[in-house]
Amino acid sequence: VPSPAQGVGPFYRPEGEKPTATVSKAVSFDNVHVLPQTPQLIALLTYGSPMIRDQNTPRADFIFYSNRIIRLLVEEGLNHLPVVENSVTTPVGRSYLGVKFQGKICGVSIMRAGEAMEQGLRDCCRSVRIGKILIQRDEETCQPKLFYDKLPADISQRWVLLLDPMFATGGSATMAVEVLISRGVPEERILFLNLIASPQGVADFAERFPKLRVVTAFIDQGLDEKKYIIPGLGDFGDRYYTL
Ligand code: PRP
Ligand code: URA
Repeated sequence: VPSPAQGVGPFYRPEGEKPTATVSKAVSFDNVHVLPQTPQLIALLTYGSPMIRDQNTPRADFIFYSNRIIRLLVEEGLNHLPVVENSVTTPVGRSYLGVKFQGKICGVSIMRAGEAMEQGLRDCCRSVRIGKILIQRDEETCQPKLFYDKLPADISQRWVLLLDPMFATGGSATMAVEVLISRGVPEERILFLNLIASPQGVADFAERFPKLRVVTAFIDQGLDEKKYIIPGLGDFGDRYYTL
């Protein structure tokens, strides 16, 4: 099933003059939020230009452009945290009514690829605590295996930003969420930040965890016979760390 093609910005151009690009599939789950399909995001993700989907993109460029999308995801993810009113007095003696975040947060990365998202979170949330869960997908069976976790002791009191760029079958993310729930984190306080998702992974996850929110940059076409996302970008961890 092809992904939809639509005219992509800039917004002031008439519809017929916008270049056509493959954009994220739309989904109708209340708890799944896809980043706006702006020209910037599509250019950062696109295949055919030297960005992250192109198999020929050198590692340094892959890291640079992935980091830019990760930053967009973190900024959007923060919009899903609760805020309370907060009034300040400006240097000219006037009051300004704004908001401030309510509650404590932490990041949790699914190692190894999820660790690539930690810096983006640190850049937005100074000295944020970060827990780790090491889950690896078995290369033959594609089933996830849990090896290790190290989480903040008070994690059950925090909002958790769960980090993994790739969401294929959803097995790894599901296992990570089960670890978090077993440590007392309520499902509704988990926010999963993800770069590319498969439609079936998102649908299964939304059904299993209806109160957990997913923020993703792009929902792709599907999975291939090896359970890799298509068109996808290949093995994120390899491209970011070792290729
Ligand atoms: C990748 C990716 C996810 C998982 C997605 O990790 O980062 O954790 O696969 O697949 P799934 O949704 O079907 O579970 P992988 O286990 O390859 O390890 P890595 O992070 O070391 O590359
Ligand atoms: N892990 C990846 O890195 N990429 C995929 O497409 C699927 C799992």
